[in-house]
Amino acid sequence: MENAGKGSAKRQQGGSLLQELFLDQLRDIYWAENHLVKALPRMQKAATSAELAEAFEEHLEVTQEHVSRLEQIFEMMGEKAQGKKCEAMEGLVKEAESILQETEEGTSTRDAALIIAAQKVEHYEIASYGGLATLAKTLGQSEIKDLLGQTLEEEKETDEILTQLAENNINQAASQEDM
Ligand SMILES: [Fe+2]
Ligand SMILES: [Fe+2]
Repeated sequence: MENAGKGSAKRQQGGSLLQELFLDQLRDIYWAENHLVKALPRMQKAATSAELAEAFEEHLEVTQEHVSRLEQIFEMMGEKAQGKKCEAMEGLVKEAESILQETEEGTSTRDAALIIAAQKVEHYEIASYGGLATLAKTLGQSEIKDLLGQTLEEEKETDEILTQLAENNINQAASQEDM
């Protein structure tokens, strides 16, 4: 086995490969959440409707809590809180920002597009936290699993709020806008 040396050295220090994977995934979402803290104010400013702007503002606060919760988890594991660039989140945020070039300012169509972009972000987070919570359970870290589960629920709630905003009545308003 090619990596046997490195792997066995790590295992001798007490960490399993799965624990290493868990930490790696934790660093990925930590980077992603911090990236979102920077992106959400821009999305808030770009939103046409006050309701959507407010939803982004609220989710910024929630996202800041997610960052602190992750820091708490790193601490519980005796690890330094450290991010690892998440290419997926970088791409999703880039996509959200490209909407500003592709849609007209002050339109509901822009809001409809921003909602879809934000929901793609939420779904990435839902997948990440769902996976992390499952890994934490396998690793026997029930307290950490509960913390991750809390964040998971908040991401799902945000996704739900965004769907409701689209349904009442941003998409309808957008359908009245001509080219
Ligand atoms: Fe989050
Ligand atoms: Fe989120």
